[in-house]
Amino acid sequence: MRIEVLTIFPEMFEALDSSILARARESGTIDIRVTDIRPFSKSKHKNTDDYPFGGGAGMVMTPQPIADAIEYVSPIPYLGKRIFMTPRGKPFNQAMAEELSHEPGLTILCGHYEGVDERVIERYIDLEISIGDYVLTGGELPAMVLIDCVARLREGVLGSERSADEDSFSFDGLLEYPQFTRPRDFEGMKVPEVLLNGNHAQIDAWRREQSLLVTLRRRPDLLEKASITDPERAWIRQQSVYPDHGESQQ
Ligand code: ADE
Repeated sequence: MRIEVLTIFPEMFEALDSSILARARESGTIDIRVTDIRPFSKSKHKNTDDYPFGGGAGMVMTPQPIADAIEYVSPIPYLGKRIFMTPRGKPFNQAMAEELSHEPGLTILCGHYEGVDERVIERYIDLEISIGDYVLTGGELPAMVLIDCVARLREGVLGSERSADEDSFSFDGLLEYPQFTRPRDFEGMKVPEVLLNGNHAQIDAWRREQSLLVTLRRRPDLLEKASITDPERAWIRQQSVYPDHGESQQ
């Protein structure tokens, strides 16, 4: 999968040069190309922003350098979605990441200042995406969040085929059960006995119960859409919701 990123801060994307994404890039499983918008500016000082028509605080990114950069990296007809990262966009979630992971390619525009001239969005952008109801200084971190989340769903990026399926928000729509590794006793805190006895049916049942409980306590809103059997729903109704490690804080 090819991912083209357009930004005025290309150096920020060095963060994608480590860990799993670095391996995926080296092996050619994903091809991430970061393009600096500024050199496309036809203004004397290579400006990429200007004052907003109608007044107001802050600057707006001008259309010309963005349009030329988009035409350069993903000329029409372009296969794959063109995305603009903005707090005004559709809230990002795992289902969107799944959909985008099947695209042949993505072009991601990162905005800055107070926004981007609307005409460039209207002409080139298929999808505006927000990573949450908060405002960051630019679209670079949101773009990296999206790239990381989409890339790990591509075949061959994670070591094991199963590990993406078992995560929180995948597979059955429940949060993940707690995990433990050695030592069995950490400063008096013991690993649950059931995980040590080698009985995989019991371990699966315990993990399922823990997933249901942690979802009930932290994100009861997820239970509505999760794949849960009728007996499990009945069992959930019997559980009392109680505050635990600040999980139910409002
Ligand atoms: N740019 C600034 N804040 C953002 C957010 N929350 N999501 C996507 N892009 C953004």
